[in-house]
Amino acid sequence: MRKKVTVVGAGNVGATVAMRVAEKGLADVVLVDIIEGVPAGKALDLAEAAPIEKHDSRLTGITGDYNEAKDSDIVIITAGIPRKPGMSRDDLLATNMGIMSSVVKEIAAVAPNSILIIVSNPLDAMCHMALDTSGFANNRVIGMAGILDSARFRAFIAMELDVSVENTHAFVLGGHGDTMVPLPRYSTVAGIPITELMSSERIDALVERTRNGGAEIVGLLKTGSAYYAPASAAVEMAETILKDKKKILPCAVYLEGEYGIKDLFIGVPVKLGENGVEDIIQIKLTDDEQKALNNSAEAVKTLVDDMKRLGG
Ligand code: APR
Repeated sequence: MRKKVTVVGAGNVGATVAMRVAEKGLADVVLVDIIEGVPAGKALDLAEAAPIEKHDSRLTGITGDYNEAKDSDIVIITAGIPRKPGMSRDDLLATNMGIMSSVVKEIAAVAPNSILIIVSNPLDAMCHMALDTSGFANNRVIGMAGILDSARFRAFIAMELDVSVENTHAFVLGGHGDTMVPLPRYSTVAGIPITELMSSERIDALVERTRNGGAEIVGLLKTGSAYYAPASAAVEMAETILKDKKKILPCAVYLEGEYGIKDLFIGVPVKLGENGVEDIIQIKLTDDEQKALNNSAEAVKTLVDDMKRLGG
């Protein structure tokens, strides 16, 4: 059976996700947007690249009508507005919560067995909206953040030490925002903790750059936010699920007491497979790390409460 991935939002992140899913030959792709013509145009453009890129994924673009998304295996939701300079991810809340709820209602009706990968910001709050609106089990609503944040940390570690990115491994916990918690002692180069390879001042500088990684790009682009790395991260999640790889990846998932956090989406290491989140990996944190994670959870909770006040 051919696999189907629906990508909602045919903007910068969505179109890049569609391209990578197709070029990796992972599945057929349905691109959905509210703008007339754009998803169809981008899907056709990508389909015309297929003979050169050598893949047989079928690409379709639709506006408004979700029938094409019927029985999707995975739905990646990127619909919403991105940040502009001076905005935090949280400033997107009021607009994107309405978009998320309307999209998820449509998806739940046509693809009730799908796994949702949420990309729209503010990420952790959007995951709550998607879980509540869909009525899906917790293991089938997963937020993309930790892979992106740790990829940024890995890129900065590789630049700093002049080593291959392939040798790097990094661990970032917490919400996708200024309170994210990079864990240097679990971040390694060829298995060696970076705490053995860099001064604590340099590590602090890289951690700070990782926390501000999204804002750094918004500041440079000026008209929107990052999309190449966010798309790569979402596609890694989709690939892991479609191929039932059982990879351990940091993702935003609904915690029910793990790490002492309850009823909240927050970034932690999980095992991803064909059933979505198949396990939540609990690692022992130091007091400082647990404090930082609690602080991050508090920030997510404030946003979820704001969303409820706004009627979400
Ligand atoms: N249904 C479908 N698509 C929608 C809807 C909706 N209800 N509302 C908006 N969109 C579409 C827009 O028309 C646009 O094409 O979502 C797309 C968003 O694309 P961009 O503006 O290019 O934004 P992008 O950079 O892709 O970011 C999307 O991902 O990383 C996050 O913070 C980012 O929340 C933002 C999201």
